[in-house]
Amino acid sequence: MKKTNKIPALWIDTDPGIDDGFCLIAAYEMDQFEVVGISSVNGNVDVQQATKNIFYILEQLDWEIPVYEGEAHPLSEEVLERGVHGNTGLGYLDPDQEGIIADPEEISAIDGIYQTAKELGQMDILAIGPLTNIAMALEKYPDLPEYIGEVIIMGGELGKGNVTAFAEFNFYIDPVAVNRVLEAFDCRVLGLNITETMGFTSKDRQWFDDILGKKGEVLRSFLDYVIEYREIDGEILPVHDLYALYAYAYQTAVIYDEKKVKIIEKGEKRGAVETNEKGYTTLFGIEGNFEHFHRFMKEVFLGK
Ligand code: RIB
Ligand code: CA
Repeated sequence: MKKTNKIPALWIDTDPGIDDGFCLIAAYEMDQFEVVGISSVNGNVDVQQATKNIFYILEQLDWEIPVYEGEAHPLSEEVLERGVHGNTGLGYLDPDQEGIIADPEEISAIDGIYQTAKELGQMDILAIGPLTNIAMALEKYPDLPEYIGEVIIMGGELGKGNVTAFAEFNFYIDPVAVNRVLEAFDCRVLGLNITETMGFTSKDRQWFDDILGKKGEVLRSFLDYVIEYREIDGEILPVHDLYALYAYAYQTAVIYDEKKVKIIEKGEKRGAVETNEKGYTTLFGIEGNFEHFHRFMKEVFLGK
């Protein structure tokens, strides 16, 4: 694929989720790429709620982007586990109360990913929920990798999990999908080992006091929920999915380690990242710069 000076096309696959919400709002503000499609996936909430949450966020931004409804069930054996983002997935916010009507495209996320990537010739994917849609698009369209530049993944860990002692949530929900994606695509993985160390401090809540309109209301509500839910004051409030978007846009801002890995698919360690000589060669983020990310967040949300 010859290098063009066109900005890259980006597809976002998401299970909103508050940190997904911060990521979508930032993606709307950023100009290093063009978002060409957004797909919902079962994860923090069921896929119908995830679709509604995407429409809720897009409506607050007055952002017109094709939205595709994704898979309701993982490739892996289903586990009854939801994220920590409240009943609606958006903390205190409820799209139903605001009369949001989800109106996804006719075709599925699987078909939308493939058709859009093939039409464009090359597309990157930001995957900030379980990897079910990407894995099932690959299963249906084995030539999909020909049209995908890179897949940036928020998921996994290099030690401690957040849904079990061993596994991070996105990898835990669908470990079978993760293995298929790592095997087929060029991936950069941003795991808890780095994303847990990057985010807001509760002092940053004041940033959002003066943002007018619905966007300000949503940002304030998101951060209030994270601070109140986590009942932590003064520590870092991670925004895992936003960090993955930042890593996509600022490739040199993160130091990566090339690892051969496989994801454990069953048992007590389901979803855990296991180094394995026969594993899939993957770039894992291992080090970033907190100040640079913090400055990026201030700039992207406050425009300064
Ligand atoms: O473990 C963090 C990940 O799980 C984030 O993507 C969050 O939104 C949840 O999906
Ligand atoms: Ca997510």
